[in-house]
Amino acid sequence: MPESRHNPVLAGQTAVITGGASGIGKSIVQRFLEAGANCLAADLNEEALAALKQELAEYGERLDVVKVDVSDRGAVEGMVVDRAVQTFGQMDIIVNNAGIMDNLLPIAEMDDDVWERLMKVNLNSVMYGTRKAVRYFLERGQGGVIINTASLSGLCAGRGGCAYTASKFAVVGLTKNVAFMYADTGIRCNAICPGNTQTNIGVGMRQPSERGMAKATTGYAGATRSGTPEEISAAALFLASDQAGFINGETLTIDGGWSA
Ligand code: NAI
Repeated sequence: MPESRHNPVLAGQTAVITGGASGIGKSIVQRFLEAGANCLAADLNEEALAALKQELAEYGERLDVVKVDVSDRGAVEGMVVDRAVQTFGQMDIIVNNAGIMDNLLPIAEMDDDVWERLMKVNLNSVMYGTRKAVRYFLERGQGGVIINTASLSGLCAGRGGCAYTASKFAVVGLTKNVAFMYADTGIRCNAICPGNTQTNIGVGMRQPSERGMAKATTGYAGATRSGTPEEISAAALFLASDQAGFINGETLTIDGGWSA
């Protein structure tokens, strides 16, 4: 098992990353392993998890993977947080990152099931993971780090559909409330807010709303380019590290200046 030689800022720590098999989550897993942490990658996509384990085989048992549907409370509590503690003896960092998009649906085109699915996967999952982590951190009495992947759509409208935007605004609200409520316990809770990033998230989006697409792309002329997962995971590493020890309840926008 290679120890981190270049950037051991997370040496000896254990991190849980949901949605860790692909895109931004995968890059966070890789970066945290490089920084010396043990990682549990939790994801719905079993095939992608197996590929991840293979790709990152050099880290051996420092990387654990588990198939989980993060919209299932019991699974998040038992198979993610409890499992990490059982496997590695502790959990220091949780990144609630798994998420899905709607089809850029404005409210008039949105059915109840789209709303409910988005809330379950993008918001309930973050609540389950954060609550379980806070309870664990309080019991352990040594603080801990929570990072929630929100979005630019959690800060301003017009970049996503109604359900996606509402779910991400709620993630930001949850993040800030947790930070405020537990600021005196050594628990830090922050959100990363990526702009358009090159991942698989849009791949399943077969029929984006015409209205939603037109609105979402308004302003892209001013964007230099899309971000890469590595550019997003760099921000997650910073927030996870002691370098960010006094940063709590923040939203970190990573969009190359698009929303500036
Ligand atoms: P991605 O599709 O590459 O990765 C998302 C991962 O989450 C996938 O591996 C998927 O299998 C997993 N996942 C989805 N539903 C799940 C469930 N119910 N249970 C467990 N795992 C599940 O997409 P990406 O872009 O890496 O997404 C990560 C996060 O970043 C999401 O929360 C997304 O909303 C957010 N984000 C992405 C942006 C982008 O432009 N790609 C921009 C802003 C935020």
